[in-house]
Amino acid sequence: MSIPVCRRMASCWRFLAVLWIAFCVSAPAFADIRDALDRYSDALRRHLVWQFLSLPTAGSQVERLVRCHTKTVADLIRNQWRQTKASEHLRRSADELERLQTLVLSIFPAPNSGMRDDAARLIIARIPEGAGVFPVRRGYLPLLESLRSRLQHQEAQSERSDTRTLDLVAPAIAKIRAECAQISQAEEVGLLQAWFSRNCVAIEPALSESGSPIFVISGAGTVSKNGNLPGKPLPTGNPIPKKFLWGVSTSSQQWEGKRHGGIWETFADAGRTEEKIGRAANGYELFEKDLDLAAGMGLNAFRTSIEWGRIEPEQGKIDPEGVKFYHRLFDGMRKRGLEPVVTLVHFTWPQWFEKIGGWDSEAGVRAFCRFVDIVSREYGSKVDFWLTYNEPPVEIIAGYVLGASAPGYRNPLKALAVTRAWIRCHKLAYRIIHENDTTAYVSWNNYTGTYRLGSLGDIHVLVEGAANQGGSDASAAGVLETLTSVENQWMKEVASIEGGRGAGSRSRSKYLDYIGIDYYALWRLPGGFTKPHLWEIHPEGFYDVIRNYYNWFRVPVLVAENGMASCDLAPRQDGWTREAFLVQHVKQMQRAIRDGYPVLGYIHWSITDNWEWGSFAPRFGLYSVDCRNERFERVPTPSVDVYRAIVRAGGVTPELEARYPAPISSGKAR
Ligand code: BGC
Repeated sequence: MSIPVCRRMASCWRFLAVLWIAFCVSAPAFADIRDALDRYSDALRRHLVWQFLSLPTAGSQVERLVRCHTKTVADLIRNQWRQTKASEHLRRSADELERLQTLVLSIFPAPNSGMRDDAARLIIARIPEGAGVFPVRRGYLPLLESLRSRLQHQEAQSERSDTRTLDLVAPAIAKIRAECAQISQAEEVGLLQAWFSRNCVAIEPALSESGSPIFVISGAGTVSKNGNLPGKPLPTGNPIPKKFLWGVSTSSQQWEGKRHGGIWETFADAGRTEEKIGRAANGYELFEKDLDLAAGMGLNAFRTSIEWGRIEPEQGKIDPEGVKFYHRLFDGMRKRGLEPVVTLVHFTWPQWFEKIGGWDSEAGVRAFCRFVDIVSREYGSKVDFWLTYNEPPVEIIAGYVLGASAPGYRNPLKALAVTRAWIRCHKLAYRIIHENDTTAYVSWNNYTGTYRLGSLGDIHVLVEGAANQGGSDASAAGVLETLTSVENQWMKEVASIEGGRGAGSRSRSKYLDYIGIDYYALWRLPGGFTKPHLWEIHPEGFYDVIRNYYNWFRVPVLVAENGMASCDLAPRQDGWTREAFLVQHVKQMQRAIRDGYPVLGYIHWSITDNWEWGSFAPRFGLYSVDCRNERFERVPTPSVDVYRAIVRAGGVTPELEARYPAPISSGKAR
């Protein structure tokens, strides 16, 4: 190579290196500004809410929103409202806004960085247009004006005149100022009221970090930030899409068995469960075997959860062994053609997480986001199907209202605060996972069922939380009311359904790329909840649930769990066998698919018997395992061959249907 060519190349590389450094320096700065602006607009929204709530007329609006709640929750909120000093909150929100304004200015690019125009454009682009958003537009004025003063000051000090950035900012200020001049003070109050009614669709009770009551207002404005994330279009259609997922499901705590310092270990160690966890089904050591068994049935999907405590046994300390374990697990799945379907929180999290404040604390939310970030980076290339929370309302009710599950609270107010936090965390996780894993599908899975209300008929609701928990107080009115409230929250916020729910609505959920459903049984109300081997089996309801969930959420449905328990392998009193259960339920799913409801897959609960949250007696496994004797031998039940036959045929055939009917006692199947 000649010397001039070398020199030219060297200078070219130098040029590229400079560009690269400039990019590296500027990209994080821009990310910081974006983040600070996100925080500014959230704070502005809060500030406007408190501005409104400080008006003497706000009480009637609060009452209007409170009335959407059930009586128990409405009373809670009224009580909080009485104790709330809006003016104090207003002062605090103003301080917060000012702090964030200082933050934005402190990271605004320096005079000669060349990125100032773009940064100014970023700020201006945040300001919404239109008369209806005047309060928000006005809220940006202090930020713009301080920016202008800073730019003018810098301009005055610099030797070279450069007013380009100022020229961008000044017209934006002039425009808002002109609007202010035309609007009287009374009109401004009216506009604030209108803004509040449009944007604040719910008012919920919550606990602040210090434990004092505050209001959390939720509304359309909170969702816009994350709303336009890339989500791969999902296969929908009829009949079963080519790559229909046939799988088995389990969860880390119930299957793996190796200790990890989680809340359920504490709960069981404290004697709050019938049986200790022991080594569960020893999936930690025997996972290769179980993956072989799944692949041997012809399946192409395997669902389990990541145990947070295994990845991060102490806050901030990542255990490479734990990280490696899930790599081996997901690699093992991929090697066998099994699509990993991965839950992040399947009723468990580390005990240290409770110590730092748990879900209803800022520290908790931050720690969770970090966990999500770590695992979606680590495993994003191996995992496409993510579920943030397993059956959120079940955990909220069982773990925070009834105290029947870890962490064992009996505190409805905390339950609502945690619900709020999970809604927020789901949205954050949705965003983080999509940022780290461009081929991800993100959702959560809900416990579903059929509820029979005496002679009034069957209903299907979104939240059927207390079903697992046994005990007569499960049906107490307060709990049912909390359930309804939790349902409302999830519906309104996690689903973020635009345009309302119902068969007529065409709009789809914003934070769910698909919807996971777990279907087990029929519940007669009023009545207590029973042990799993006594759950009333009702395959027809499965069709209805698939239809309803599709109609509610407008995204494809993934059956994340469906299964049947016996008690320690004794035949069920109602005559149901797992073979008949499988055939009759898959048949109902096929009906739903035939009728046009998009279903992504069917994932049976469970591959093996396991630790059923306090006891080994309920046996849900296709393969039975005596977990108590700790030999962990996997013994196929007759349902293994039936599932294999279903998968091979791509669904239930007339022969299978004839061979495995529902027991006579269970009534006539459709
Ligand atoms: C849960 C599982 C549980 C199964 C059977 C579902 O509610 O996600 O963890 O084992 O039901 O009770």
